[in-house]
Amino acid sequence: MLNIILCGAPGSGKGTQSAFLAEKYGLQHLSTGDALRGEVKSGSELGKKIEAQIAAGNLVPDDMMYGVIEHYIEQLPKDSKGMIFDGYPRTVAQAESLTELLKKYHMEAIMIDLMVDEHLLTDRLLERGKISGRADDNLETIRHRIAVYHDQTEPVAGYYLHQGNYFVINGNRSVEEVSIQLEKVIDLATR
Ligand code: AP5
Repeated sequence: MLNIILCGAPGSGKGTQSAFLAEKYGLQHLSTGDALRGEVKSGSELGKKIEAQIAAGNLVPDDMMYGVIEHYIEQLPKDSKGMIFDGYPRTVAQAESLTELLKKYHMEAIMIDLMVDEHLLTDRLLERGKISGRADDNLETIRHRIAVYHDQTEPVAGYYLHQGNYFVINGNRSVEEVSIQLEKVIDLATR
């Protein structure tokens, strides 16, 4: 089973590359951002709480996220080839709980970090903001999301580096070039 954690700042290409990898390797794709936006759309009480966090560019509290992930892993088809975690974990506490959860199901994962220069992140998200309709794709919130990433998500890299399953990719290149690099890293990691 191939389980991949795709990590990176807002706009680093996690969603774009996860879709490519899901297709290429036949993996289930969990985007926590999409899952949370789906909850917001449902109009539930939980969705209302989540909406405010997303619009402000803050992370949704860890305890709310654990349930989402556990439910997802429990529902995985028996013949699944593996999963891509797109945007999870984003805190060291989430990483620790994911390790425990995967252990419970006798699974492991590799972590791939997409590194992209800050001005490119902002340019990409502002460009997407022209059509995305996302409440968090505006300059002020983009800046805050990037600051939250540095503060809360960057330390996650150290957690996986310490575990020995950390890989890094230059995400500044074109979508196609990044995909090729990802294939090479996955090939290397699964040999
Ligand atoms: P989420 O939806 O995950 O947003 P994000 O992390 O800010 O990431 P984005 O979707 O903006 O960017 P991406 O890296 O996926 O890049 P993409 O491929 O889309 O999360 C939203 C919110 O939900 C969070 O802020 C938080 O509130 C909450 N949340 C989610 N997970 C959580 C968690 N685990 N814990 C707590 N809260 C959580 O690409 C962006 C744009 O760039 C696109 O237009 C794309 O076409 C373009 N692009 C991509 N790659 C390239 C390239 N190589 N060259 C040029 N353009 C490119």
